[in-house]
Amino acid sequence: MDTGTAYGLPEPSYRAELTEVGRGTPCGEFLRRYWHPIGLAADAAGVPRPVRVLGEDLILFRDGKGRAGLVYPRCCHRGTTLYYGRIEAEGIRCCYHGWLFDVEGRCLDQPCEPDGGRHRGSARQPWYPVQERYGLIFAYLGPPEKKPVLPRYDILETRGPGEFIDADDTSIGSGGPALVPCNWLQHFENIMDPFHVPILHGSFSGVQFTAQMGLMPKVDFATTPRGTMTVQDRILPDGRIHHRITEAVFPTLRVVPNPRVAGYGTCEQIGWVLPIDDGNFRIYVAGRTTEKGTLGKGRSKYNGKWWWDLTEAEHQRFPGDYEAQVGQGRISFHSEEHLASSDKGIAMIRRLLKRQIDAVREGRDPIGVGFDPANDLVKLDAGNFLMDAPPAAASGD
Ligand code: FES
Ligand SMILES: [Fe+2]
Repeated sequence: MDTGTAYGLPEPSYRAELTEVGRGTPCGEFLRRYWHPIGLAADAAGVPRPVRVLGEDLILFRDGKGRAGLVYPRCCHRGTTLYYGRIEAEGIRCCYHGWLFDVEGRCLDQPCEPDGGRHRGSARQPWYPVQERYGLIFAYLGPPEKKPVLPRYDILETRGPGEFIDADDTSIGSGGPALVPCNWLQHFENIMDPFHVPILHGSFSGVQFTAQMGLMPKVDFATTPRGTMTVQDRILPDGRIHHRITEAVFPTLRVVPNPRVAGYGTCEQIGWVLPIDDGNFRIYVAGRTTEKGTLGKGRSKYNGKWWWDLTEAEHQRFPGDYEAQVGQGRISFHSEEHLASSDKGIAMIRRLLKRQIDAVREGRDPIGVGFDPANDLVKLDAGNFLMDAPPAAASGD
């Protein structure tokens, strides 16, 4: 007899193929076909900086000539960490026996060896390619022969008067702190969940965005040549329509216009959800602005306070995205879910993700990767737009 009690609940499980990011895992190999931001430009500096990306621990630095480098931490000589290395004009020098490596891992000096190392050319510190754009450092952790071009995005390339691109590493939009202790997919798939907005952000915890965003939208979901999107229409009190498009661009880009709707137009920023490892993510943002350091000013307040100033009782009474997503668990148990009709977008993004993971496994290129440097511009549709009410005859529902 099924009484529905928790007694006898089966052992829960999650979809590892969609969530785990390590080397050699299906999703990890899919993610390794793209560039990911791993730091702000300023993070690559004269002091070695440990970074953790897709479950790999690495060292980021910038040599004296201004080139950023990303290397495996264990020195290829006898394995001490380059965290204690010293940055020089040509690269990073290991503290133990002084081997010097350039930003591509080539060994340039072995001071304990005759002639600075006659065989130094055969030593190579494992490294990854990096490129800088939009104030961020992007790294490619995949197979070298599959390295795609680093895309440009029209919403960041086209700027209004006085606008420039600023970058932020505080995980704007996480609803909480910069490091979020749950799986990256819990945040990424949330882009396709517009129905939580009028509940979690519109009424349950008070008005976290704006009253306008609290209106229940009419929603369409679609796939795009680069991922998935939601198209949301909210009928405003004056009869006009707030037409809002949000995009999940594969593999991890959140292209979601400001939910406070300070103005109408194309989305002003892109957030890259960076999987740190299976159970942690952070978000790097680059966006158009007219004032340095202000990208995060649209951050939510709860009960009139910043997230980090809340008491535990207030977190419980005024939860936001951080509480809801971390609350799903380190990696949400998919076996215990009951997807409903309003989860159509969630099912869609997971299906598309699964198809890309399968494509990589079968030797094909996943969605959105390109190899032609002359064709690196990605056009996006996301934004908040104000539309006149449709003519009465055309309004079917
Ligand atoms: S362990 Fe790095 S130089 Fe010896
Ligand atoms: Fe949210």
